[in-house]
Amino acid sequence: MKDCLIIEGGHPLNGRVRVSGAKNAGLVLLVASTLADGETILDNMPRIRDVEVMVQILNELGVNARWNEDGSLSICPPPAGSMKVKTSYELSKKLRASNLLLGALLGREREAVISLPGGCDIGSRPMDLHIKGIQALGAEVDIEHGFIYARSKTPSGARVYLDFPSVGATENIMMMASRTPGQSVIENAAKEPEIVDLANFLNSMGARIRGAGTDLIKVEGVPELKACRYAIIPDRIEAGTYMVGAAISGGDVQVENVIPTHLHPIVAKLQETGAIVEETDQGVRVRAGRQVLPVDIKTLPYPGFPTDMQSQMMALLSLAEGSSVIVENVFENRFQIVDELKRMGASIQVEGHTAVVRGVKTLFGARVKATDLRAGAGLILGALAARGETTIENAIHIFRGYENIEEKLIQLGARVKTK
Ligand code: UD1
Repeated sequence: MKDCLIIEGGHPLNGRVRVSGAKNAGLVLLVASTLADGETILDNMPRIRDVEVMVQILNELGVNARWNEDGSLSICPPPAGSMKVKTSYELSKKLRASNLLLGALLGREREAVISLPGGCDIGSRPMDLHIKGIQALGAEVDIEHGFIYARSKTPSGARVYLDFPSVGATENIMMMASRTPGQSVIENAAKEPEIVDLANFLNSMGARIRGAGTDLIKVEGVPELKACRYAIIPDRIEAGTYMVGAAISGGDVQVENVIPTHLHPIVAKLQETGAIVEETDQGVRVRAGRQVLPVDIKTLPYPGFPTDMQSQMMALLSLAEGSSVIVENVFENRFQIVDELKRMGASIQVEGHTAVVRGVKTLFGARVKATDLRAGAGLILGALAARGETTIENAIHIFRGYENIEEKLIQLGARVKTK
């Protein structure tokens, strides 16, 4: 299996790139499809490793999930009462989002046995808020031998306050609540666009969810949901990655198939670095500025600056004319790109949740390693601007979340190959 990306730096990205469907929306919608009876068809689903693993997990549970010739994905769960409720360790360890089956299975089968999930190694990723939510809705929960055992014989709607607006916990509670009798209320809910997409999708299937996109979500449980056809929103993080790609490589890229409001936090920071960003009829056009200006960044839940764009911005700021401060507030171990960027000549110091990035004149090609998905994306961006050739090992992390990345970069004029 190809697991290295080799990039020759110094070739600016120019032209147009079409953004794929959002990974994080696609994963949760795939799981949420199992709450309905009949065949759901999802359009704009990205064909990436994480989605392929989720399809395998669903197939293992007895769901018929398969790709159609037109690129859409069909999901047809088995008759009510006959879906398996236990996820395997082997597949779950490859995908953190496998934990989303907790809410979907409880909503559908009233029972779920979920292998404690794996995923990106970006810090401890506990499940306490997910568990608090499903318990409030009436689930009994035990954790034994690496599995969460949850059962809800007589679930009923309830109020849940999340101590932190966790994306996954909000999604799990929404899915369970959509088929739980009575009204459920999620306070301090996550507001990410992917949450809104999940609510729109569930409502298209007959759910009654209001307030998604605000911190108060209300769900009236319904007895059944009906399959539908639905198109997933574009991936704002993929879009942001190509936007930074234009800025860091001295290029000019038209990023197409985007929802501009989802990109505002990213656009605001890119403009502060001196990049020229304009909304066009087709999407967003980004042109590199004459120089990269230093900016300070704090990652926060939406609409704050996304943690999933932090590594990419760090790559850009490592070439700024001055020092930038990056504070990571969402995940505790999300500076793993730092040591790899340093191998390319960057000057970065980390103290706890804060990184001080002192801009250097040039990055140099080197052999580096993608430690997680977004760190891998950041390394690609560094490599585009670097002098000489960069080999990124463990590129499998990148293929987990970026559809056709090699082809898209080549189409924009980058010199990239896989090995
Ligand atoms: C999702 C995204 C991921 C993104 C993240 C934050 C998917 C598949 N992944 O991950 O790309 O980086 O949102 O935008 O959608 N936490 C707890 N207890 C819990 C749950 C979470 O303490 O029960 C903490 C986590 O440790 C982390 C923070 O909350 O520090 C945010 O996590 P969360 O929003 O849940 O992220 P994910 O849903 O895992």
